[in-house]
Amino acid sequence: MTTEACAAVCPICQGQLASEISAILCEKCHHRFPIEDGIPQFFWMSDWPADKPDVTKVMQAFYEKTPFPNYDEFDGSEALRLKARKSVLARLLDEQIKYGSTILEVGCGTGQLSNFLGMTWGRNVIGADACLHSLQLAEKFRRENEIKGTRFLQMNLFRPVFAPESFDFVICNGVLHHTNDPYLGFQTIAKLVKRGGYILIGLYNRYSRLATDFRRVWFKFSGDRIKSLDAQIRDHSQNTARKQGWFQQQCTNPQESRHTFGELQVWFQKNGFAFMNSIPKCQGEEFAPDEKLFTPHLPGTGFQHFLVQAGETLAGGRDGGVFICIGKRS
Ligand SMILES: C[S@@+](CC[C@H](N)C(=O)[O-])C[C@H]1O[C@@H](n2cnc3c(N)ncnc32)[C@H](O)[C@@H]1O
Repeated sequence: MTTEACAAVCPICQGQLASEISAILCEKCHHRFPIEDGIPQFFWMSDWPADKPDVTKVMQAFYEKTPFPNYDEFDGSEALRLKARKSVLARLLDEQIKYGSTILEVGCGTGQLSNFLGMTWGRNVIGADACLHSLQLAEKFRRENEIKGTRFLQMNLFRPVFAPESFDFVICNGVLHHTNDPYLGFQTIAKLVKRGGYILIGLYNRYSRLATDFRRVWFKFSGDRIKSLDAQIRDHSQNTARKQGWFQQQCTNPQESRHTFGELQVWFQKNGFAFMNSIPKCQGEEFAPDEKLFTPHLPGTGFQHFLVQAGETLAGGRDGGVFICIGKRS
């Protein structure tokens, strides 16, 4: 499996792992992790203090019922490629990630980005998620479309199955805000990035997400009729299952927190990452179609952050109010 390209360790005791026919065995604590339908199941709960209720099980149950994002409209790899290239982020990542890179997508959901990135020859992509149902959809698509560069595994991001400094890229988009300690989650996955490697984090924005709050209130009072206020639901190129998934993900998710450019930039600084770029750009500049994701840009002032975040809120909180920052490990 692709995990061989990166150092995999036991998520319980960090011991060495050995492959068996349908399981992976820890040589230190002797725990046996099953492999079913090609997906190694490394999920292990984290130990939270008694006063901090763990939401991981609640989130797992939510995504087992509502895998996100839904694959239904895709017939195959070409359709996924076309769709992904319409997304600015996926296209730029595909164009700018170097040949030979090892990539970990944490909280990959149904693995659309991991599968898309793994279609390009010479990449090692691992999609990891807590939700087995999402991973089964991801793996089915990967197998049916013979995507050789990607593998999937089940993992709790607070209990990684990789040694520190294993990856050139760690991508974690739309995930940490669904955990009960986003900063601890960030610190845990940031350690997996090699020196000189990159991390990409997408979080709900404290201000842009207000637009979703507003829509939620409207949905509640109006039922189906006013769902059309949401750009994703209005989009006629999306099928019903996908719109339903988007609606549930946005409006019925049991756990979410909200963050700001300034906060995420402090996380970067404290953990040895230099700020590279963001979507939207946090200095208020226009995002160019050939924007360089991995070259240093000014981090912006508090006032510039305020203006950009306020502008995004007034624009209706695009992509559910998610903002993205990319950092380079020094
Ligand atoms: C909103 S979805 C994002 C999926 C994908 N990253 C995307 O942008 O489309 C959030 C994902 O985070 C996963 N997740 C939440 N908590 C997790 C944890 N503790 N460990 C691993 N994955 C987790 C969920 O199972 C879910 O698939």
